[in-house]
Amino acid sequence: MLRVCVVGSLNMDLVVKVPHLPQVGETVTGGVFSTFPGGKGANQAVGAARLGACVTMVGRVGADPFGAQLVDALRREGVDVAAVGTDPESPTGIAAIGVDEQGRNLILVAPGANARLLPHDVGEAVIARSQVLLLQLEIPTVTVLHAARVARRHGAWVCLDPAPAAPLPEELYRLVDVLNPNEVEAAALTGISIRTLEDAQRAARRLLDRGPRHVVVKLGDRGSYYLSSDEAGHVPALGVKAVDTTAAGDVFAAALGVALGEGRSLRESVQFASCAAALKVTRMGAQSMPSREEVEAVLRQVTV
Ligand code: RIB
Repeated sequence: MLRVCVVGSLNMDLVVKVPHLPQVGETVTGGVFSTFPGGKGANQAVGAARLGACVTMVGRVGADPFGAQLVDALRREGVDVAAVGTDPESPTGIAAIGVDEQGRNLILVAPGANARLLPHDVGEAVIARSQVLLLQLEIPTVTVLHAARVARRHGAWVCLDPAPAAPLPEELYRLVDVLNPNEVEAAALTGISIRTLEDAQRAARRLLDRGPRHVVVKLGDRGSYYLSSDEAGHVPALGVKAVDTTAAGDVFAAALGVALGEGRSLRESVQFASCAAALKVTRMGAQSMPSREEVEAVLRQVTV
């Protein structure tokens, strides 16, 4: 079984499903409130576990009910949570999320304990026994860099979902095997605003030149563009009715890492990840991730 380590965030998502998302200064009423386990790191851990990987989560929560609920949610998915620490001072991270009728979202994050996940919290042994490391940017960059260095030393795939967008140290680009920004993140990292597929190609080329082996630019309902030294192409998005796009990027990242770790080609891995993301957006809640069987079934339909 593929062993995956996730070093990243856990948040409690406080979600209001609203008729439309507010403008600045606008109050939107008539919403329906729910809480869901979330956080980009934890979402990727659940995504990888549902796809059949043996997953270890490294993270930090507060000593509060949200923290305990988030750890329990991961445990129920079979994720190893021994390396999720409890911070005595900072509260568990939360995300306030608005989701509209088309499934689009607005997310405000208070990182809390996630901001205190430091390099010394990331045990070398946990990464050393993993074949794939999944990273995102809701924890300090110094911790992301440290985990990537350790993974590289031990020959694991280093997968970085650069979300939310933040400047990256140049060394990190060179440590990464696969970098998968969305349009906003690709624009922030390259200065190229992504309006067309050609823009995505130029941004991917610029990112690849900095060091990653593979770059995948996610273009939402326009699919994904992938580039490596010997492969390039576009995978269209599947047409689905979106209910909640929250964590679509997270399941994409998890599925991409799992597929690459299992030895699929870059194109096959992007197709697998696109199917996983399409299934996710049809359901409410960040961790309502599809199973391996569901993804394979959709993949069979789109590739026959
Ligand atoms: O990517 C979606 C996630 O972003 C949500 O679950 C929320 O917690 C924020 O971290």
